[in-house]
Amino acid sequence: MSRIKLDSRLSMVASLVREGSVTADIGTDHAYLLCYLIQNNICPEGIAADLRKGPLDNARQTVIDCGISDKVELILSDGLQNVPENSADDIVMAGMGGILISEIIEKAKWVYNEKINIIAQPMTHAEVLRRFFCENGFRIRKEKTATDGKRFYVALSAVYTGEKYNMPESYYYLGELLENRDEITRKYIDKLIFTLEKKLAAQKSAGVEDMEFLEKLIDEIKMKVTEVYG
Ligand SMILES: C[S@@+](CC[C@H](N)C(=O)[O-])C[C@H]1O[C@@H](n2cnc3c(N)ncnc32)[C@H](O)[C@@H]1O
Repeated sequence: MSRIKLDSRLSMVASLVREGSVTADIGTDHAYLLCYLIQNNICPEGIAADLRKGPLDNARQTVIDCGISDKVELILSDGLQNVPENSADDIVMAGMGGILISEIIEKAKWVYNEKINIIAQPMTHAEVLRRFFCENGFRIRKEKTATDGKRFYVALSAVYTGEKYNMPESYYYLGELLENRDEITRKYIDKLIFTLEKKLAAQKSAGVEDMEFLEKLIDEIKMKVTEVYG
């Protein structure tokens, strides 16, 4: 019987899942996350869903190897489309882009429900996802960061409240990260600033005229970071 060990990225995601929740892992691929949650009694059962047959076959194999076939439903599905309504308490979307994650949520109105915990781990465009949450009535509850030594990752949990917000632009880049005072988050933010400054420098050398938006955004982010970290 296999026992699943998670890397730092998926451990971060697992730590945002509520104990006792039936969890749907959308874009599951190998289903390591869901199998780990069930093997460690964090979740009693769950759904592993993927758009493509190959990844879903990988998931099936992991589930069999872990001896938990009776606890996992495998569903071929574009996002949440074939996942039955109200079949999960926690919904995880990890390892996909922030734009795709926003689109998956947007198409599944049953997750606009205050009882459902949405956990997202965007590999790109986290700022698009945060904006989506704010503009569509979701509140971001918590954010976490992780690193594997080379890359930095972010994961966030959100819940529907129905209240829509317009936040300052910097919020869409920092979210709730400034609530964390740990070293990895600090490095994640430093890297974010570095990436934005590189983009600004590239625009300057390309002779782009209107850089005010990006300059203002970088200043705003730096100011918020200084307020917290000094
Ligand atoms: C990089 S893997 C991430 C696997 C795992 N969630 C993780 O974080 O390690 C992305 C997975 O998302 C699946 N995927 C892509 N678009 C999808 C969609 N619209 N609906 C469901 N799954 C999707 C892919 O087939 C692939 O298996």
